[in-house]
Amino acid sequence: MGRSFDTLVIGSGAAGLTYALEMAKRGSVAVVTKRDRLESNTRYAQGGIAVVVDRDDSFDAHVKDTIVAGDGLNNPRIVRLCVEEGPARLQELLAIGVAFTRAAGGGELDLTREGGHSARRVVHAKDTTGLSMEQALVAAASAHPNIEIFEEHHAVDLITRKKLGMRGEDRCLGAYVLDARTNRIEAFLGRVVLLASGGAGKVYRYTSNPDIASGDGIAMAYRAGCAVANMEFFQFHPTCLYHPAAKNFLVTEACRGEGGILRRLDGHAFMVDYHPMKDLAPRDIVARAIDSELKRTGDPHVVLDLTHKDPRFLEEHFPGVHAKLLGFGIDMRTQPIPVVPAAHYCCGGIVVDEHGRTSLPGLLAAGEVTHTGLHGANRLASNSLLEAVVFGHRAAVVAGDLQRALPARDVEVPEWNTGSATDPDEGVLVSHAWEEVRALMWNYVGIVRSNKRLARAQSRLTMLEREIREDYWNFVLTRDLIELRNIALVATLVVECALMRQESRGLHYTLDYPERDDAHWLRDTVVARGSRSR
Ligand code: FAD
Ligand code: SIN
Repeated sequence: MGRSFDTLVIGSGAAGLTYALEMAKRGSVAVVTKRDRLESNTRYAQGGIAVVVDRDDSFDAHVKDTIVAGDGLNNPRIVRLCVEEGPARLQELLAIGVAFTRAAGGGELDLTREGGHSARRVVHAKDTTGLSMEQALVAAASAHPNIEIFEEHHAVDLITRKKLGMRGEDRCLGAYVLDARTNRIEAFLGRVVLLASGGAGKVYRYTSNPDIASGDGIAMAYRAGCAVANMEFFQFHPTCLYHPAAKNFLVTEACRGEGGILRRLDGHAFMVDYHPMKDLAPRDIVARAIDSELKRTGDPHVVLDLTHKDPRFLEEHFPGVHAKLLGFGIDMRTQPIPVVPAAHYCCGGIVVDEHGRTSLPGLLAAGEVTHTGLHGANRLASNSLLEAVVFGHRAAVVAGDLQRALPARDVEVPEWNTGSATDPDEGVLVSHAWEEVRALMWNYVGIVRSNKRLARAQSRLTMLEREIREDYWNFVLTRDLIELRNIALVATLVVECALMRQESRGLHYTLDYPERDDAHWLRDTVVARGSRSR
C-alpha cells in the first residue's frame, strides 16, 4: 500500500530542497509540503545568510561570534564545520540563480551586518533574502525530472517498524500524509526519510513565523522515539512590528546593523544601559532589554529609529520593509517604527549528528527542526539559513549510502485506520485550545521565566493534552487538529526542558536561577519519549 520513492522529504524550505536537489542525482525524490511549495519560514527570511567571504573576515571570527552568542553551549566541532562549509554552499546558491545583492560597481557580494557579528558577513538579497533563495530552490526542484513535489500534503505521523508491531531493529519507513484537498490519508514510503519541516513559532501567541511553523516534525519525531534537546532556548526576535493590523511582520535586524537605534517612547536610546555593543548586542540581550523597559515603563512598545539615515539609502537597502510599513501608514524615513519582541526561532529540536542522522535508523533531519549543536543557547543572526543548506547537503552525503544499503521494500504498510472517528461537531473547541496553548506559553514561558510560572504552564498543558488526545482519536483528522496536537506536545517539551535547566543561559532566563552555572549545566537538556503516551 502507499506510494514508494527512493527518498521521502517532508518540507520544501531551504533544508528540504537543498537535500532533494542532491538526492535527485541518485533516484526518485518525493517532497511533501503542507501548503504551496514556496510557503516556509525560509521564504520570509530578511536579513541574509552568514558566510565568511570578506578578506578581512575569518572562519575563526565567525566561530567565535557564534559561540559568544550561544553562551558557550555550542558544539565547537559542529560550529566550525558549518562555518567552513558556508562558502561552498553559497557558490551552489549562486549557481542556481539566487539574486544576492552586489556591492556598488556590481562585482563583489554586498555584506551587511547584524547583532553579535564582529564583521560584515551577512550575504543578502536586499531585505528579501529568503524569498530569493526559496524561489531559486523551488524553480530548480520543480524543473528536476526526479523530483515530485506534493503540495497541500500534510505529514501526520512517521511510519516505523515498531509502530507496525514488527520485531528487530526499529526503522523509519515513511509517513502517513493527509492530502488536504481530498481529506485522504495515504502512506508515503522512502528508503530514507528526511524531516525538514522547520520551526515552531506558532507555539507562542506572538511570533514572526508564518502559520506552517507548528512544530510538526519535532512532535512526529518525538512520538517515534527520537531524542529532542534544548527546547527551552526559544529565540525572541527583538523587533517585530507593533501594529493592530500586523499579524507577524518582522523588521530585520539588518536595520540595526545599518545604524538603527532602539529608543523608549521618551526618546532615550536605552541599549547603552545594557551592553557595550548597544543595539548590536546578541539577540537574547536586546530582547530582554526591551522586555525589561516595557515592564518598567508600562509602554506598549519601543521604537526603532532610522530617521537619521539617508532616505535614499533606506529605500534602496530595505525596499521590502519600507513598502510593507507604508502599507501600515508608517514611513520609516521620517517616523520611528513601533516594535516589540516576538517568538522567532526554535534553537532546540531533534538531536542529529554531523550528517543529520537521528536516533531512529532511516530517519534524517535538517534545518530548524533539528538540534545540531550549532546554536548553543542562542542563535547568532543569519546562521539558520546557513545551517539549513549545510545540513541539507550533509544529510544527502550519508543518505546516498543508506539508500544503497537498504532494500527497496521489505514490509507491507497498512492503510491509515480511521476507526470509528466521526466529524467534529464543535470545531470551535480546536481553535479555543489553540489559543489557550499559545496564550499560556506567551504568559508563562516567555522571555523571563520562573519555576512557579513554568509549573503553572505544565499543569495546564497536561490537562489540555488529555483533551486533545481524546479529540484526536475520536474525530476525523483535520489539519487544525493535527497541528493542535503537535503544538501542545512541543509546548510541553519546551516547558520540560525549561524546568530541567536550573540556571540562566542565553535565551533561558529564570528568576529562580539568575546566574549561568557552568559547573552543572554546560550540557544539553535531552528529552525522549518515556512511559507517557502522547
Ligand atoms: P522552513 O523553511 O520553515 O521549511 C519547512 C517546510 O516544511 C515548509 O515547506 C512547510 O510547509 C513544511 N512543513 C511543515 N510541517 C509539515 C508537515 N507536517 N507536512 C508537510 N510539510 C510540512 N534565518 C537566517 O539565517 N537569516 C535571516 O535573515 C532570517 N530571517 C528570518 C525572518 C523571518 C520572518 C523568519 C520567520 C525566519 C527567519 N530566519 C532567518 C530563520 C530561517 O528563515 C529559518 O530558520 C530557515 O529558513 C528554516 O529552514 P527550514 O528549511 O528548516 O524550514
Ligand atoms: C532578521 O533579518 O532580522 C532575521 C535574521 C535571523 O533571524 O537570522
